Amino acid sequence: MSRIISQIHQDLIDFIKRLCVRGTPMPRFGLRQVVPSLLAKNRDHRFDFFSWTANYLSANYIDGVYVEFGCCGAVTMRYALNTLGKPAAYGLRNHISHFFAFDSFEGLPEASGLDRQKCFSKGKFSMSEEAFKRLMRRDLYRVTTIKGFYQDTLPHYEWQEKNGIALAYFDCDYYESTKNALEFIKDKMNHGAVIAFDDWQMYYGDPKRGQKKAMTEFREQYQKTIYLEPFFPFPPLGMSFIYLKKELMGSPLE
Ligand SMILES: C[S@@+](CC[C@H](N)C(=O)[O-])C[C@H]1O[C@@H](n2cnc3c(N)ncnc32)[C@H](O)[C@@H]1O
Repeated sequence: MSRIISQIHQDLIDFIKRLCVRGTPMPRFGLRQVVPSLLAKNRDHRFDFFSWTANYLSANYIDGVYVEFGCCGAVTMRYALNTLGKPAAYGLRNHISHFFAFDSFEGLPEASGLDRQKCFSKGKFSMSEEAFKRLMRRDLYRVTTIKGFYQDTLPHYEWQEKNGIALAYFDCDYYESTKNALEFIKDKMNHGAVIAFDDWQMYYGDPKRGQKKAMTEFREQYQKTIYLEPFFPFPPLGMSFIYLKKELMGSPLE
């Protein structure tokens, strides 16, 4: 009995902690929604990914900007806004100067070839740019949206940031989309920055499809200049890496 009471107590503490993270998407209120989600420990572990990565970035004083590919729904963008650049590990604080949201705002494009999968269809996850911005509310001053399909927008996008990227988050599902996005970030990353793949284990974890395939090809293509150190996997399907420039590895940077 005491174990059950202490479990319920812990669940309530977790629940209140999530309430305190302002803006974190919550289950809808109402006993029928809240109680099962508490009992099932229905939390989104991707929030923990952002929180741990914020610790890593601040402990290593890695400043820069946040970029996200695939942001309709605004869940992970909200996690990023609420964690990155906040005082984290040992009270240290890095600086995340801006947040970039790349999306069609029309949902997924038509999947072709290897990207076809039962759970994906054209237009899925769509949310208008206006609706996304409404969810950003008070943070809009530090968020830029870039609307359009990556094959159209990324090759022509004028990147004017002086700061490099501290964290690049890929939640765009397809091999083709991830490949385009990786190509875009390759010369904008800071040494020691993090890249994360939300859909790493889609396509049954097949390394010849999806984000794994895009990453393998990227790694092979730039192996002379870039080293990718596995960082940590995160539930339900994600994986992350630390992005190191080979020319700086082994040198005593300040
Ligand atoms: C799973 S949703 C993103 C969910 C979001 N990260 C969240 O936490 O709420 C995937 C998104 O990727 C976008 N996407 C995928 N491929 C794209 C492409 N080639 N160009 C633009 N957007 C793309 C879709 O529009 C969709 O919004």
